Amino acid sequence: MAIPRRFTIAESSHRILDPFTPAKLADLGNALHLRPAMSMLDLACGKGEALCQWAKAHGIRGTGVDINQPFVDAANARSHELGVSDQVTFVHSDASEYVSDEPVDVASCMGATWIGDGPVGTLDLLARSLKPSGLAVIGDCYWREVPTTQEAIEGSFARSVEDFPTLWGLIETVQQAGWDVVEMVHADEHSWDRYVAAQWLNLRRFIDENPDDEIVPELRAELDIAPGQYVRHQRRYLGWGAFALMKR
Ligand SMILES: C[S@@+](CC[C@H](N)C(=O)[O-])C[C@H]1O[C@@H](n2cnc3c(N)ncnc32)[C@H](O)[C@@H]1O
Repeated sequence: MAIPRRFTIAESSHRILDPFTPAKLADLGNALHLRPAMSMLDLACGKGEALCQWAKAHGIRGTGVDINQPFVDAANARSHELGVSDQVTFVHSDASEYVSDEPVDVASCMGATWIGDGPVGTLDLLARSLKPSGLAVIGDCYWREVPTTQEAIEGSFARSVEDFPTLWGLIETVQQAGWDVVEMVHADEHSWDRYVAAQWLNLRRFIDENPDDEIVPELRAELDIAPGQYVRHQRRYLGWGAFALMKR
């Protein structure tokens, strides 16, 4: 099981693999009212930063699941670095059918709702691991402003305008699926820049240090167009938020 190598390279310096800064991740942890000994399952946990930081700040314990072994290794290393390795565990596995042995207080999937074929399917998946009054957390993209040209749609990581909902559309969809939206924290232009622009330096450094690697032409082509596409399209049109939900 592997994800395209491009992600491991482009996100090599990132601890958070979504458009949140450490400050926004801390905001979200506070917004969830995490308390010591609460349990959490984080599906598609990336490098485990949410679990590690919240274990340190709030005393929670939990399990993270990710399909990319280098990210699981980074998560384990981070748990040791922050002194929380006795509170968190990271599992290398496909999260799309993962259900925890014991029901948890918080079940999350931030930046990977394709594992459940969209937000509602991902909430269904998270619900299978949640205590009855537990919190589900999903992080997902939406249109801040709906683009009107195909160029702007494709420049925003989409094939058609239907690929993302509006913010209201996302809220309405999860409510209609039987969930109360009980909290949310959103990315902003600065936090998007920290996620996206930080990838360009990683690409350039990799290209310079590994000129004969077979992936270099792909990365070179990406670096040529990514900054322009980002400032013309993604930065204007794309939003991203983390939403906390409780089953009605
Ligand atoms: C955009 S990143 C988000 C990571 C992390 N949740 C965060 O916000 O920092 C998407 C993550 O999903 C993982 N992933 C993709 N498909 C997966 C699957 N089927 N099962 C588990 N992890 C998956 C990738 O390896 C990557 O770490």
